[in-house]
Amino acid sequence: METYQSFTSNDQGGLQIAGVDVAQLAKEYGTPLYLTDEDQVRHACRRYRAAMEQNFGPRCHVSYASKALCIKAMYPILAQEGLWADVVSGGELYTALAAGFDPAKLQFHGNNKTEAELRYGVESGIGGFIADNREELLALEQLGAEYGKTLRVSLRVKPGVDAHTHEFISTGNIDSKFGFSYENGEAMAAARLAGSLPHLELWGLHCHIGSQIFLTEPYGLAADVMLRLMAQIKEELGQAPQCLNLGGGFGIAYGPEDRPVPMEEMVAQLAKAVERGCRKYGLEQPYVAIEPGRSIVGPAGVTVYTVGSVKHIAGVRTYVAVDGGMPDNPRYALYGATYQAARAASWQAPKTMEATIAGKCCESGDLVVKDAQIQPVEKGDLLCVFSTGAYNYSMASNYNRIPRPPVVFLRQGKHRLAVRRETYEQLVQNDL
Ligand code: LLP
Repeated sequence: METYQSFTSNDQGGLQIAGVDVAQLAKEYGTPLYLTDEDQVRHACRRYRAAMEQNFGPRCHVSYASKALCIKAMYPILAQEGLWADVVSGGELYTALAAGFDPAKLQFHGNNKTEAELRYGVESGIGGFIADNREELLALEQLGAEYGKTLRVSLRVKPGVDAHTHEFISTGNIDSKFGFSYENGEAMAAARLAGSLPHLELWGLHCHIGSQIFLTEPYGLAADVMLRLMAQIKEELGQAPQCLNLGGGFGIAYGPEDRPVPMEEMVAQLAKAVERGCRKYGLEQPYVAIEPGRSIVGPAGVTVYTVGSVKHIAGVRTYVAVDGGMPDNPRYALYGATYQAARAASWQAPKTMEATIAGKCCESGDLVVKDAQIQPVEKGDLLCVFSTGAYNYSMASNYNRIPRPPVVFLRQGKHRLAVRRETYEQLVQNDL
């Protein structure tokens, strides 16, 4: 992925992001601290949009997967950059609406939306629902009747792309909790059902085959299956769904071993697959959508910690303990994720220290980066962990009653608080 050149050094070699000194920010907001480079987020939105429009013309959209970072500050940016957004819960929907996002550009995902969530979506006038199961289709039909509305639905389809032949975590194969399987006829049955329900408009087909994917081929395979299904629906029901949504999952570089496909190339490959499929199955090119999350916000985020102790355990390893950990970044604990880290004051100096960056929780698995290469650090130093913009704040917890850090957005030499640091009072506000 092309890196956006907003990470620079001040005269002393200290890290600056978007022209703002990280040390200054740490002083003002405290640590741990999440920083987001706003122009980098905008740049990613623009690249996706430009690539989509270049390949598919005006009949396409890019929908930001809110789950990657769902905070109010994101939505005006998405609106200005011409993106749609998808939400997966009442809470994400509430956040988007509270930020003034156009409900018509929201799609509601999720494999078990509650009746209350569906109703909230209908009452808010959202653009559509990505229906996961039969019960949901029936519930939506009822709500449509109750509110006198025709609701736009897309079907979440498992295209059966085989995770065994591609090295990524798959959500697109038959053994997944998400959606209707293509292989066993469930997806076609769901299309028949949706087509028969008077308050539903079968608008689209959707698939999402996994996350942090570095290959284009699985997307091509998925697109082929989805278009085949589209043609089958057209033949049987007389009309093909208009929209083909190929989901998100485009990988980013957390470390030097990660080689993401540039967005432009990924989208061009999708376009080729769609064109091929349309020719093969005799379809007009549908309206096409994608749903990136991680690749929009991930690389733009940096977490800043303060080092509290350095333990050299002779013959074993060195532990650098920081003032955060799994509550602000559970990704090592959950996925064994790796990150690049650096001492903020000399972030480009040679990385001569190997250390495991540990959190402050009462849990041995509470590591931020295992076996990291960093500049030598000592107590009081600021340590930055890169590419933490996605699935960090959004997956943060209060384990050990640690308040969640603030989120600060940086742009063109300025900083603004997007989310305040949680307080101890807030930690107990719901306790009785
Ligand atoms: N669309 C759907 C239906 C999804 O389920 C997801 C992610 C996306 C789009 C966006 O995928 P992305 O472009 O961000 O890869 N917590 C995990 C990631 C879970 C992704 C879940 N679905 C992590 O921290 O790696």
